[in-house]
Amino acid sequence: MSDEGETVAELEAVDVLAGAPDAALRGLASLLTPFTAAPGTTLMREGEAAHHFILLTDGEARVVVGERDDNELAIVAEGSIVGEIALLRERPRASTVTALTPVRGLMGGRAAFTQLLAIEGVADKVVTRARRRLAAGLVPVPMTLDDGTALRLRPVLPADQWRLLEADALISAKTRYRRFFSVTGITPATARYLTEVDYIDHFVWVAIDDEQTGVGGASYIRSRSDPSVADISFSIMDELQGRGLGALLMGALAIAARRNGISRFAADVLSENAAMVAILNRAGMEWDMADRGIRHGTMAVPEPAPYGIAADTERSLGALVDEIGFRAWHSLGTTRGSMR
Ligand SMILES: CC(C)(COP(=O)(O)OP(=O)(O)OC[C@H]1O[C@@H](n2cnc3c(N)ncnc32)[C@H](O)[C@@H]1OP(=O)(O)O)[C@@H](O)C(=O)NCCC(=O)NCCS
Repeated sequence: MSDEGETVAELEAVDVLAGAPDAALRGLASLLTPFTAAPGTTLMREGEAAHHFILLTDGEARVVVGERDDNELAIVAEGSIVGEIALLRERPRASTVTALTPVRGLMGGRAAFTQLLAIEGVADKVVTRARRRLAAGLVPVPMTLDDGTALRLRPVLPADQWRLLEADALISAKTRYRRFFSVTGITPATARYLTEVDYIDHFVWVAIDDEQTGVGGASYIRSRSDPSVADISFSIMDELQGRGLGALLMGALAIAARRNGISRFAADVLSENAAMVAILNRAGMEWDMADRGIRHGTMAVPEPAPYGIAADTERSLGALVDEIGFRAWHSLGTTRGSMR
């Protein structure tokens, strides 16, 4: 195989380039430089100006934040893009990347990055991947329930899908029915849908306890027909219900929604679901007629303070939302989902 043919074959195995047309990959290949690195080689260093990105084609590298070696953010393997976040945000590197094994890859500068992002569908994948990586590195925000229970709130992560499936097996049929209007457990595909989000059109907060176990969550999903409206839903483990977490999650959801350009919430709720109805009524929900026991309503996205969110918590949650929803690189265009 020619050198170019070999590079194109390697590019086909890069996850963000899956399905990209051959011609686009050939154009990109001409701008990339192959490299190899021995274990222990620093591929990128925290704090340095970013001028290049890497497509790993063989081996593994470790991503670490700060001086301490135990501050590992991720292990990245072949098929991954690395170093794209600093280029997207036009900021210095936020982490150090070191080869764990012998590594082979393709390195590109800004021109190659521009070319990569111009391939149809790739910019959205790269930006969403970057947002998920940023989400994984954020420090959860502490909050306390009225009874003194200490919890922390963080955005959902793709790795939560396994925990969600485990948690689903533990919740009561009543809770499952109130959340999903069905008593059958969630499928792996649903768990994936609920956890692999873009944090702009689909946002999920997860409340975790001291052991990092998820004990509840709330989500919004932007409407396709009206981007200013989002459907909301909540789910809290049975033993924590009725202790104020639902209200706090509503406040947190409002913070994320406002920052992402959503002005109204919509919800479908079982008429008998007094706790959910109470939370929504506090925000002035306007209810339609109930249909077969399900009430639909809409309301303006509420202020977080009446839901028990203190001013400093509001600032911290807002900072997390802004960090993940960073304004992407100026030449990416302005499609929703990749820009704010
Ligand atoms: C619905 C749910 C999110 C509410 O969260 P929660 O933490 O249990 O509720 P909170 O403790 O924050 O209480 C919120 C309000 O409901 C009231 N409430 C709580 N439990 C209640 C109950 N069992 N009966 C009546 N009212 C109740 C509270 O007094 C409070 O009222 P207020 O706003 O007037 O002060 C949670 O119970 C849950 O996950 N239920 C199962 C799944 C579900 O129903 N999802 C909603 C579908 S969108």
